[in-house]
Amino acid sequence: MATGFPLAALRKRGKMFECIFNESSIYKCLLNGDWVESKLKKRDKIYSPSDGELVGEVQSISKEEADVFIETAKSAQIAWAGVPVNERAKIIHQAADILDKEKEVVADILVKEIAKNKKSALSEVARTVDFMHFTAEEGKRSVGESIRSDAFPGFGKGKVSIVNRVPLGVILAISPFNYPINLSASKLAPALVAGNSVVFKPPTQGAISALYLARVFCKAGIPAGVFNVITGQGREIGDYLVSHPLINMIAFTGSSKVGRNLAQKAGMKPLLLELGGKDAAIVLEDADIETTAKNIVSGAFSYSGQRCTAVKRVLVLEPVADQLVKAILPLVKKLKVGNPEDDADITPLINDKAADFVQELIDDAISKGAKLLLGNKREKNLMHPTLFDQVSVQMRLAWEEPFGPVLPIIRVKTVDEAITIANQSEYGLQSSIFTKNIDAAFRVASQLDVGTVQINGKTERGPDHFPFIGVKSSGLGTQGIRYSIEAMTRSKATVLNLQ
Ligand code: NAP
Ligand code: G3P
Repeated sequence: MATGFPLAALRKRGKMFECIFNESSIYKCLLNGDWVESKLKKRDKIYSPSDGELVGEVQSISKEEADVFIETAKSAQIAWAGVPVNERAKIIHQAADILDKEKEVVADILVKEIAKNKKSALSEVARTVDFMHFTAEEGKRSVGESIRSDAFPGFGKGKVSIVNRVPLGVILAISPFNYPINLSASKLAPALVAGNSVVFKPPTQGAISALYLARVFCKAGIPAGVFNVITGQGREIGDYLVSHPLINMIAFTGSSKVGRNLAQKAGMKPLLLELGGKDAAIVLEDADIETTAKNIVSGAFSYSGQRCTAVKRVLVLEPVADQLVKAILPLVKKLKVGNPEDDADITPLINDKAADFVQELIDDAISKGAKLLLGNKREKNLMHPTLFDQVSVQMRLAWEEPFGPVLPIIRVKTVDEAITIANQSEYGLQSSIFTKNIDAAFRVASQLDVGTVQINGKTERGPDHFPFIGVKSSGLGTQGIRYSIEAMTRSKATVLNLQ
């Protein structure tokens, strides 16, 4: 029975590279099934944010070299798209199983490379394993439709449009430092199961973790050339990759600043952009204060606030503000500050520049009269959790994304004032509403200009088959397993003109 393009033929080179993706701590790039070094021998050193130790070195690929990666992906894509989807899905399942087996190794790299505590690192890997299995199955469910002509006035039964989903071609996947495994696989798995080939540019700080993920895909038997990995500074190589004529679609997660620049450089290419956030937790007078406080604290401070969906401001109705502050403060005080190896809740930020920016926002709030309840304590890039009350809209902290462990509490007089302040943000990722009154919750939710509203729960992405949407400066398009597959494919109609 014909089964489309013979996968075995494509796999012939698969087995060679198992142990040569790094020599000592120098990590290579993946090109056409081989692990390669930059001919210019240019590399970036990756240091641990928590102890400054060298984690390893990654290649810094030049624009000229990048052409080869992209052309390779282009030439491999057609054959890959011809492989039956059940066989492509099998490879994604295998990759998930291998990642599961290697979860301890990969988690330890995350702890070193991005100072994520071990518990969160393991949950990121486990979540990614589930994501990949789910995506493999969803990829098999991507169906088309057929439409008959006689539904339209003046047309008989003479035409049938057979509409299929087809891959877009070569997908450029770019991911951020805070989830180098999960937010990479969230692009790679949907792209590959849908029959696209991929050029993957991981974050520089997080590249080594991402290369471990790339090796997993190779071990699972992704044919040579279908999946290629370029490492290098985004500010050096990013614009070139994004504007490259052979790239057919870009899936990017990162800051709004880089996202906006990318959208300008990408021309007519389809984009899936997941960008920054300034998620508000709106607390109404009848909220269950204890549950609300727990959700707000874990939402604001997990991974030291370095999450796009972190709760980044509280808008609380005045009559319950004191109660809420009394409930939040002890929970923040309980947070363990220290090293990721010791599973601390608050660990060093990704770099000093990130910590400087958080300190700037703290200083601005203090200079403008915010009430410091806790924190404003710093050891290099380790920022202790900081909690402010009486924050006003004149303060930068009310609007800017700290991407660090600082939480501003803004007291409001009315629900309408809360909605106004929430919608005045340039960002539109998520919001939470805490209330026992479900009608009020839906009324407020309908007025909030964000991608997702969480009722009585913290702002968060996932489960990963849910749609994940950023509006305004928070993004373009919808992520989430089925939605990502749809964003990485397009309709193609074949019309039968029956004689
Ligand atoms: P970033 O600085 O924007 O970097 C994101 C990725 O873009 C990295 O791989 C980076 O490479 C690359 N890059 C840099 N300049 C580029 C260019 N000119 N063209 C193409 N790519 C370029 O963001 P980050 O600091 O890694 O992550 C934090 C930000 O991402 C926060 O704003 C956060 O809210 C946002 N984020 C959003 C989501 C979401 O799902 N909405 C999820 C996570 C993070 P280098 O690492 O080499 O610079
Ligand atoms: O910042 C990463 C983003 O995608 C958030 O994911 O699951 O931490 O809400 P999560």
